[in-house]
Amino acid sequence: MEEKIDYSTYELGSQEMRATFRLSDAYVMLNHGAYGLSPQPVVEKRIQLIKEQESHPDTWFRINMMDYYMESVKTAAKLINGDVEDTFILNNVTEGTNCILKSILKDSEEILINTHSYKAVQNTLSEMETTFGTKTRCVEICFPIFDEQDVVDLYVRQLDQYPNIKIAVIDHITSPTALKLPVEKIVEVCRERNVLTLIDGAHAPGQLDLDMNRIKADFYVGNLHKWYYTFRGCALLWVSPKHRNKILPLVTSNYSNFTMHHRFCYWGTRDTSPQFTAASASKFYEDIGGLETITGYNNKLVTWAQSMLCEALKTRPLDIPESMKAPNMAVLYLPKSSKKQIGSDELIVYFIEKYNGITVGFTTIDGEVALRLSANVYNCKDDYYKLRDALLDYFNE
Ligand SMILES: Cc1ncc(COP(=O)(O)O)c(C=O)c1O
Repeated sequence: MEEKIDYSTYELGSQEMRATFRLSDAYVMLNHGAYGLSPQPVVEKRIQLIKEQESHPDTWFRINMMDYYMESVKTAAKLINGDVEDTFILNNVTEGTNCILKSILKDSEEILINTHSYKAVQNTLSEMETTFGTKTRCVEICFPIFDEQDVVDLYVRQLDQYPNIKIAVIDHITSPTALKLPVEKIVEVCRERNVLTLIDGAHAPGQLDLDMNRIKADFYVGNLHKWYYTFRGCALLWVSPKHRNKILPLVTSNYSNFTMHHRFCYWGTRDTSPQFTAASASKFYEDIGGLETITGYNNKLVTWAQSMLCEALKTRPLDIPESMKAPNMAVLYLPKSSKKQIGSDELIVYFIEKYNGITVGFTTIDGEVALRLSANVYNCKDDYYKLRDALLDYFNE
């Protein structure tokens, strides 16, 4: 009999919690926001699902798969206070944003993004500009930001300047800058102008309290594999009932005449086992304390780390109001340096290779290189001291 572990007894930041995420001692993981990380019970669930699939594929695909899919749909719907009928599971947010944009936009229609929108969204839209003649408008968000209303006003200005915008993609938490955007207020000004809204919540499930009735967007996509601990390849899509029949999955398969859940579940033969780890991730998430406890721990740690590093490096945090800070992530500028500049993606790899697996997000903001820190329940202060020492070495080299 497998021993059942009571994760509620594990202290956040402890060695046992770190071991639950199977991190080797050599590895300092401060970039959870990039690809997420699953704890042991979720990895075990995935392995169990793979074994089951291989033991009899026909039972898996013909009999069990749809039930497993609906179990994940129910878990996701509960998390976002959405209806099961309006909620779907897919692989990731990139797929979700592509699915909505390609279902909704036609010919020369216009779309609104912002200067911090995710690269894949920007790439999708430039491809669509070439293929369909759509047009992309952009809200320029610069620093410092004093108030949420400043950002809402920037949206209003663009919406009024370009009255033909059909849909706005609004990041709930931006990728390069970890900005929590005031999505409810932005959705409201869009709705007043009959502009549809798609919220890119790649970082939101597990990090923010989500309620589809409060946000009132037309579409919401969010990764469960970043901050909600599912295995990689599990995301949610929520579609307002008024658009239900307009949305098609990216791939058309055998069940196109069945329900929308069937269409999203079956895309030809593939391994969807990561999508079926939502319930076990949810159990772990609640066992270790749920939203308030987890984000409380992470926020205290990341806020401390940000100011400790600013002091050590004699630099400054990103200048944004408290209400726009993401709970589990924080950004600070790096010192100006006479060192030959390399791009932020190259710097991530350079640090992993040169400094024994120290993994942190480097990013570029208005031409300045900055650091995006993540904190999670397996991190402790010592991880950020190791990062500090590596940064001091890098800049003094
Ligand atoms: C704001 C935002 N949108 C979309 C994505 C894409 O997520 P995925 O790679 O899981 O599709 C990310 C990934 O970090 C992101 O930060």
